[in-house]
Amino acid sequence: MSQTEKIWDLPVRLFHWLLVLAILLSFLTGKFGEDIADWFLEKAIFFDAIVWHARIGYFLMSLLLFRIAWGFVGSSSARFQEWPAAPSQLWRYLKQIAAGEKPSYPGHNPLGSYAVFAMLLLLLIQVGTGLFSEDDIMFSAPLASLVSSETSELMHEWHHLNFDLLLIMIGLHVAAVTVYHLWFKESLVPAMFTGRKPVDKTPIDNLPSALRWRPWWLALLVYVVALGIVLLIVL
Ligand code: HEM
Ligand code: HEM
Repeated sequence: MSQTEKIWDLPVRLFHWLLVLAILLSFLTGKFGEDIADWFLEKAIFFDAIVWHARIGYFLMSLLLFRIAWGFVGSSSARFQEWPAAPSQLWRYLKQIAAGEKPSYPGHNPLGSYAVFAMLLLLLIQVGTGLFSEDDIMFSAPLASLVSSETSELMHEWHHLNFDLLLIMIGLHVAAVTVYHLWFKESLVPAMFTGRKPVDKTPIDNLPSALRWRPWWLALLVYVVALGIVLLIVL
């Protein structure tokens, strides 16, 4: 029998959808900055796309720092240490999938855990390289003056290349969610909105009763510290 249980806390859900929004806006302002600026100019509005690109990037960086910290001090479904990411767990999961079984996990499954680690790492590289980049005209990111212009150019190149890797990972992530929906008939997306997920009550070790929740004010405190660190770096 299947029933729903709370799996994701509000901070993780907010993080997820704000991250999606920030990546979309970063992509648009990074790739189509000039077109967007021209479009605004036709309406007699000045829009400095690269400055907004960087601001959105700083916001995204604060989300990232928050999520990494929440992975250590947050609710148990958010904690990296509690994810089923040991190589033996990944192996068992892959064997179950290959055998046509549908292994059920209250939070991330082993493969999903690795995918999330990969996305967080690529995002860190994206903001890290962004902070040292210069564009071809007159924008210089906050840390670009700390390195030579060759290094800054290299960072810009990596910023460009890494984004393609990020896009591939995002594609795989969305594909995996779709496969779960179509193949396993399990829709994971509503849980990222409501926090609740249908949970298989058998076998017993999949019971999420051991989930421990952290209060919202702790999340707010952690976010304020994360934002403070970003502002210290970029101002
Ligand atoms: C930390 C803040 C960031 C800064 C300071 C920054 C800076 C820059 C700069 C200077 C450029 C070059 C623009 C040009 O060539 O005219 C750029 C391009 C770009 N950025 Fe960022 N960036 C940041 C964060 C991000 C994030 C978080 C993403 C996406 C997740 C992103 C995605 C892109 C993309 C897609 C491009 C266009 C690359 C290309 O194809 O040439 N950036 N960024
Ligand atoms: C820019 C695109 C996206 C990025 C970077 C992204 C990133 C992430 C990350 C980092 C997590 C882990 C959440 C956490 O533990 O904090 C996650 C989980 C999840 N994402 Fe996304 N996501 C993206 C787009 C989407 C979209 C479009 C959907 C819906 C189709 C989606 C559905 C989900 C679901 C359902 C989970 C939970 C998976 C599970 O049950 O284990 N994501 N995503």
